[in-house]
Amino acid sequence: MTAFATASVTAPLQLFDFHPVLADFRSAVLQGLSQTPKRIPATWLYDQRGAELFDQITALEEYYLTRTEMQILQERAVEIGDRITQGALVEFGSGSSQKIRILFDALRAKGKALPVYVGLDISKQHLQQSCEDLQRDYPELAAIAICADYTQPLRLPDVPVLQNRHKTAFFPGSTLGNLEPEDAIAFLKTVAHLIGPGGDLLIGIDLQKSKSILEPAYDDAQGISAQFALNVLTRMNRELGANFDLAQFRYEAVYNEALGRIEMYIVSQIAQTVEVAGEAIAFAAGERLYTEHSYKYTPAQFNQLAAQAGFRTRSVWTDSQALFMVVDLATCP
Ligand code: TRP
Repeated sequence: MTAFATASVTAPLQLFDFHPVLADFRSAVLQGLSQTPKRIPATWLYDQRGAELFDQITALEEYYLTRTEMQILQERAVEIGDRITQGALVEFGSGSSQKIRILFDALRAKGKALPVYVGLDISKQHLQQSCEDLQRDYPELAAIAICADYTQPLRLPDVPVLQNRHKTAFFPGSTLGNLEPEDAIAFLKTVAHLIGPGGDLLIGIDLQKSKSILEPAYDDAQGISAQFALNVLTRMNRELGANFDLAQFRYEAVYNEALGRIEMYIVSQIAQTVEVAGEAIAFAAGERLYTEHSYKYTPAQFNQLAAQAGFRTRSVWTDSQALFMVVDLATCP
């Protein structure tokens, strides 16, 4: 069957590398540690080990988000897939790219062409691996990988394959919730600019719910969430010559109902001074180092946020328990 002989020969992956350099990590850390309260921007949690631990989180029983979003995508794959045909699809924080496969499979089953795929992620090895896996499993797929911090200003590479195509941005995982509302609006504006007039944004958003479901999702019984957050201390030890003693810190996740957000932080168990990149950083006993917030929205709140960035809501899909929603937003033409 020579007709299929080329099916396994995939074009090499085009990788554009804008991975932040060590100096960026150093200045982000020193800046964050000099603030009150201390904080480390979440982007830096995702080194290779961090990305692996986060993948483990997504499979935890307590972490309902990933499976619920996958279930929504599965149940509505045909309808959602219709929003991306023929164009280019830009996935933000592509991670292990399990979710996009659901949509690709639905397109294939209907005999439709796959879009040009652009994977964007901060974890380079993870990104490269998942794009290569996609190309192996979908040999007809044209794929471009961009290693970058997408919370910073962003442009798509000037390659012919991306020109004059309808663009759909895909931003699953409720990662938007990790941005403060004003930063979320700024980010959505960047996305609107990137996809241009008439473009679509398919976005996964976690919904507000009770503390008893939310807190275990961010602080699981096996302690993987804790390992994930504390890994940033290990990363500082390795990359910035810091001397954090991990036994003197612990992780906590608390739902702030008034602000509708999970607050994740590392607590210094004792008064201690740690050396980071040549500077002495003092922690009081019980002092917090914030790693991340995860905002939870109601459909109405999210609709308003999207409108402030110039998007209108085309469709909202949710699960039977209204835990999570996938929204199709359109830029105004
Ligand atoms: N984007 C994830 C979320 O908000 C991040 C996350 C999940 C996380 N679990 C965590 C961050 C535990 C720190 C610790 O759902």
